[in-house]
Amino acid sequence: MVSTLDLRPSTLKTLFVIGTDIYKATQLLESGELVAIPTETVYGLAANALNESAVVKIFEVKNRPFFDPLIIHLASVDQISDYTRNIPEKAHLLARHFMPGPLTLLLKKKDIIPDLVTAGSPLVAIRIPRHPVSQALLEQLSFPLAAPSANPFGYISPTTAQHVEQQLGELIPYILEGGPCEVGLESTIVGFEDEQVVVFRKGGIPIEAIESVAGQAIVQTHSSSNPSSPGRLESHYAPATPIVLGDIPELYKSYVGKKIGIISFQNPYPNLAVSARVILSERGDYSEAAKNLFSGMRWLDEQSLDVIIANWAPEEHLGRAINDRLSRAAAKRSH
Ligand code: TXA
Ligand code: MG
Repeated sequence: MVSTLDLRPSTLKTLFVIGTDIYKATQLLESGELVAIPTETVYGLAANALNESAVVKIFEVKNRPFFDPLIIHLASVDQISDYTRNIPEKAHLLARHFMPGPLTLLLKKKDIIPDLVTAGSPLVAIRIPRHPVSQALLEQLSFPLAAPSANPFGYISPTTAQHVEQQLGELIPYILEGGPCEVGLESTIVGFEDEQVVVFRKGGIPIEAIESVAGQAIVQTHSSSNPSSPGRLESHYAPATPIVLGDIPELYKSYVGKKIGIISFQNPYPNLAVSARVILSERGDYSEAAKNLFSGMRWLDEQSLDVIIANWAPEEHLGRAINDRLSRAAAKRSH
């Protein structure tokens, strides 16, 4: 069979919107444009954090409410003090251990960070990605990058350049290719209250690892409806197909006759006649499971299913962040 290259305009756009040209990304960002960038957690939709008209475009393209603040991304730990002040001792400690990496610190911002980025909060979220492509890009730039996950607001975060292209490809000039994300879940977000570490979002660094470095039991914020941190909203990271959570064989019985997909942490349930199955990690490995979660949810969402049934991961290590994302994906949408 002879295959020919399809050169219709939409295909051409797709061909050129994804690429590996860091120089091109640098130029676009310097001129106030958006570029989707790979990080080790998920792909981000980046703009010059110090340029308000560039940052506004992020909110527009994502359809994100302005009350939802953005994380800023820096090239190295040394730059944190350029943008923040009164850094607590425990923040230094965590930065030394986990940065670059999937950790975000909430710190007091300096005036140079626009209020638009922090949605008026005196705190700014700081992250140093360890993906070699985002590192190389940040090293070329003279400003930090504001970057939320590169998905429409409320949907699943992208873990490949193709995921970004499918949803935002028509709206942004360039997507930097960096391969599938190694971690696959967003960063863990921590803040500091009375010199104690408080977790605001479970993510790519397990709480147990933070506890052992911080030398304290971690306090978790429980508010799920605080509008100042929508990543914690009950319904978020959600596919269009309804998701129900619990014991897979039990739930299966109540959906007989429907087109069912499953997300199972480990057990493949070979005897269940389902239309599509995503097994996060047959060997029960948390990192492998985390890496597969969002791409698995996206794939299931493309299979025209009536329902996705999923079970919980064990509630420890990255299993906690996996369960957090599953429960938000399963939560009924209020909008
Ligand atoms: O791994 C990640 O963190 C990815 C990559 C691209 O870095 N970014 C990411 O960004 O997940 P986003 O915007 O999708 O989620 C960031 C979360 C939001 O829930 C936001 O409300 C919260 O961080 N956040 C950001 N700045 C904050 C601030 N100043 N105070 C409280 N929460 C903040
Ligand atoms: Mg997000």
